[in-house]
Amino acid sequence: MNRKYLGYLFEIAWILPSVAVPIAFLVAIVITAFAVGIAVPGNVGRVDPKALSTTPPFDKPGLRELAPGRYEAVVTAQLFNFTPGELEIPAGSKVTFIVTSRDVIHGYKIENTPINMMVIPGQISRMTTTFDTPGEYYVYCHEYCGGGHHLMVGKVIVTPAKTASANR
Ligand code: CUA
Repeated sequence: MNRKYLGYLFEIAWILPSVAVPIAFLVAIVITAFAVGIAVPGNVGRVDPKALSTTPPFDKPGLRELAPGRYEAVVTAQLFNFTPGELEIPAGSKVTFIVTSRDVIHGYKIENTPINMMVIPGQISRMTTTFDTPGEYYVYCHEYCGGGHHLMVGKVIVTPAKTASANR
């Protein structure tokens, strides 16, 4: 094998992965977008942060029971607290959190749950989880938002589930 031919082989050995790697990235993007359903936030779920007091559902923040064991928690974040600051939920409930900000970018993380969202003014963040274990779960703003950031704490209180007899 002459030197020139070996040089071509060496070059091809580098060209192939340099083509294959971007193709692999592209395939990964297509798979996450269409098969897994991961997407950037769209126009759906936009809200005017200055008009929250007159825009449903944020005009009435709080917990709503949609069906037995199925809740919706509407929360606003602002410097430096959450409204409502405390939510009380019976164990076993499935809760969808619908959160937005009145002012700057905040975070909404409920300890020991998968709920962990950015809270962006103008954008509605939405996530659902089920609370199986009674107890107190702290809610943290995990995005630095100003001088009172470290004071921005809320609480979810999961009460023991009502037994069948207690409902009668
Ligand atoms: Cu709100 Cu940090």
